[in-house]
Amino acid sequence: MVKKVHPKLEVPIEAENWTEGIELPLALMEQVDEDFASTAELANHSVISARQFSRTQLIQLCRLAAKFETQQSFGQFPLTGKILISAFYEPSTRTRLSFESVWHRLGGDIISITDPSTTGIAKGESLKDVAEMMNHYGDVVVLRDSNEKAIYQMLESLRIPIINAGNGTDEHPTQALADMYAIFKWRPALMMNEVSQEKKVTIGIIGNPSKMRTVRSLLLFLSRISNAIKEVVIISNSTDLFDPSQKEELEEEGLQVRVSHQLDSELPDFDIVYINAIAWVGDTYEEHGVEYRLSKSSPLKKDAIILHPLARGEELSTDLDDTTHNWYFAQARGAVFARMALMSSLVRF
Ligand code: CP
Repeated sequence: MVKKVHPKLEVPIEAENWTEGIELPLALMEQVDEDFASTAELANHSVISARQFSRTQLIQLCRLAAKFETQQSFGQFPLTGKILISAFYEPSTRTRLSFESVWHRLGGDIISITDPSTTGIAKGESLKDVAEMMNHYGDVVVLRDSNEKAIYQMLESLRIPIINAGNGTDEHPTQALADMYAIFKWRPALMMNEVSQEKKVTIGIIGNPSKMRTVRSLLLFLSRISNAIKEVVIISNSTDLFDPSQKEELEEEGLQVRVSHQLDSELPDFDIVYINAIAWVGDTYEEHGVEYRLSKSSPLKKDAIILHPLARGEELSTDLDDTTHNWYFAQARGAVFARMALMSSLVRF
């Protein structure tokens, strides 16, 4: 049994109680060599869009995440003395808690705002002025705001990095990083420059790329590994699936994207099934594609994996939880390591 040591408590923990095991992140690490230079380029940069990341940076961040998951990067507290400003103005379970968990695990301290009406915003203060103050109170800002323009307004005066933790229907780049980390742990060969035709994968996405920030960011990352993907099939009955030039941008990167209205006839071909039904719009959420549902009786490929950014609804039956298709919990757990990789790359003082 591999013993692991919690970096703060210094209590040995049986590996099986920590994660599903370290074999998968170890295999990921062995697939590609470490390239410090590509993640060092991220230092002190804000993260607004998945579009910002090169293929190499994406792969190296996932490699660094694997290093954290196998505890090879613990034992040091790179964020000691650094303060995270955690500003979540929209409900969140995973993103907020995992970012805050990461910051604690890496030795930093946190101050937070969960309701903008408790700040000067309630008195008409501009986001630009709020951001000017944040420059003096913290070292990094993580922002979730249903107003997709808010992060750009803050950038006008911010001199410390800000990370987009979900801005309206626009993007959620760190969720997509967690998605890619799960995908690479499942099939490390997808990180390679050359992927043979038989090893390429078909990905089904049940969701709306123009309305769902998780899907928009994931597609941008998938376009970085288009050489490893046969096709992405968007399953939806919506007519407004893409913003102007959204599909063209993906296709220019070599990603084959097709739309289908049928789930069960396409499902047997999918190696990865990504499903989401919620889009946060304004002060509430909309449900999309609720007619598409996955359950144990769905005609899934034997070794297909299911990813879901969560929170789930009726679209993803709990009877899949104890099957080998369930990679959505590993995806959520891996988000901690993916965000550790990102944070430790961004914050280098
Ligand atoms: N995936 C995700 O963004 O979940 P939360 O809304 O709980 O943060």
